Amino acid sequence: MNNFDWKEEELKLFREAGRRAATILSEMINKLHTGMSARVLDEYAGELMKKLDVQSGPREDGFPGNTCISIYPIVAHGVPSKRIMRCGDLVNIDVAINYKGYYADLAYTLPLGEARPAYERICQAGKKALRNGISECRAGNDIGSIGKAMESAARSDGFTIIKNLCSHGLGKSLHAPPYNIFNYDSDEQEPLELVPGMMLALEPYVSSGACRAKETDNDWNLTTHNNSHVVQFEHTVLVTENGPEILTLL
Ligand code: CO
Ligand code: CO
Repeated sequence: MNNFDWKEEELKLFREAGRRAATILSEMINKLHTGMSARVLDEYAGELMKKLDVQSGPREDGFPGNTCISIYPIVAHGVPSKRIMRCGDLVNIDVAINYKGYYADLAYTLPLGEARPAYERICQAGKKALRNGISECRAGNDIGSIGKAMESAARSDGFTIIKNLCSHGLGKSLHAPPYNIFNYDSDEQEPLELVPGMMLALEPYVSSGACRAKETDNDWNLTTHNNSHVVQFEHTVLVTENGPEILTLL
């Protein structure tokens, strides 16, 4: 039913998509500065997308922007707004693109301006959760081991996982089987053996105290009940015979 048997030619296109997505994100981070709005940063992303011959994945799904830019207390799916970004803002950028029908998805969170120890700690914990999840992306492993590894990494650093946001498969669409990969040890995760060719977008949301994201008055922006900090780091990972291959590294 689900064919993870990609041709070498297709894998090349996935790697190309991954590189392009990573280029866009890193150029956006280079451009990001206090005094600019998320809207302007997103317009810059749109120019890069044109230049690199890619389409915005979220826009294809009706999202009003090229990328999701979430500024605390917004924690996910942020619509790029005109609000000016200031020193101390915690900014999350999520870039998902379609290159000739092949998708890639990655995200990064960073504080603007002076480093705050609390932001430093949660960003380190978020990166570690993602890293530990990626290291479970080995053929023969059960899919549940990914969430277990990510949750235990976050908990050992004193953080929580947002449980109602999932990682996901992707491929020739932004969301593909396996659709819902829980970022924690969940009874609802159907057992599934990881096989070479699976393409997974891992994206744990690590929080200073919240376990759920909730909707706001706009259709997209998500926040938390208690205004906890949340970071999200995401990579697109290919399961290979020789372990995980991260497609969204530069
Ligand atoms: Co994403
Ligand atoms: Co994603």
